[in-house]
Amino acid sequence: MKQITVSAPGKLMLLGEHAVVYGYPCIVAAVNKYLTVTISRSCRGKDRINALEVADFSFVKESLKVFRHEFSIKDFFSLRIKSELGNFGLGTSSAVTVATLKALAEFNHLNLDKKELFNLSYKVIQNVQRLGSGFDLATSIWGGTIYFEGKTKKVESLHQKFLPIMAFFSGQKVKTIEMVEKVAQLKKRNSKFVEDIFRKIAKLVEEGRDTVEGCDWVTLGKLMTQNHLFLTQLQVSTPKLDQLVETAIKAGAYGAKLSGAGGGDCMIALVSRKNKKKVTSAIEKVGGKIIDVATNAQGLRIEL
Ligand code: PMV
Repeated sequence: MKQITVSAPGKLMLLGEHAVVYGYPCIVAAVNKYLTVTISRSCRGKDRINALEVADFSFVKESLKVFRHEFSIKDFFSLRIKSELGNFGLGTSSAVTVATLKALAEFNHLNLDKKELFNLSYKVIQNVQRLGSGFDLATSIWGGTIYFEGKTKKVESLHQKFLPIMAFFSGQKVKTIEMVEKVAQLKKRNSKFVEDIFRKIAKLVEEGRDTVEGCDWVTLGKLMTQNHLFLTQLQVSTPKLDQLVETAIKAGAYGAKLSGAGGGDCMIALVSRKNKKKVTSAIEKVGGKIIDVATNAQGLRIEL
């Protein structure tokens, strides 16, 4: 039986979340945890989705719908989905969208390049959740560490082999869309204040780009902590995330911040090899859970 398997990595946002939704840039890194989609033909007159580790099928279903419509395909497919991403906010929705569309394209002998795959995936994300910058799709497709322009959707791969990043789960989960809506509401009420923060975040991102490529961890750490303070002002942090950030810095991290939409999910910290143990035990003491990830991960791959 013919089948195609495609894997897409998860991600961690280094700098620039929320502002990127309004056109500003961000820096994001792919992580070495993958979501894998295997596709074959379904002969049952309907699609079959087998995905024990994915709670929400809406992105898979929308990917099938958009793909069929775009390429006038009438067939039904059987999808088996496996995920190493867990439920920590590492980007399951984007990874499953990108991997499903690429697997469908390969199965149907359609050669989609990165940009075409991004555009199609972005359509799916827009249809399902309306708001979203697409940074996570770009990371899943390109891999590595990227500079992503919210406005133009331009992707620039940064020269970076290793980032001393550690990730911790805060123990809470909130839907990304709820946090994006929250910022939208705040912006409606206080547009000048929010725009001002976005511009300041964008400035950090520009500075961050050189520090990432130049391996200047001390400065990058400071930028991350500064970014966290701006996110706090946008009201997307939580007391738990603030506590984790503070604890990591006190234990010797170069810097720390929430990563992603906020309201829960992950805290990331930039930590020297020497301070890793100290930071880990301090964070665990206050209830944070280490997520075993590393950056410099390869982007989308077709498994042989
Ligand atoms: O919650 P996550 O990891 O999907 O990150 C969301 C980042 C936002 O900037 C808030 C939204 C987006 O689409 O860029």
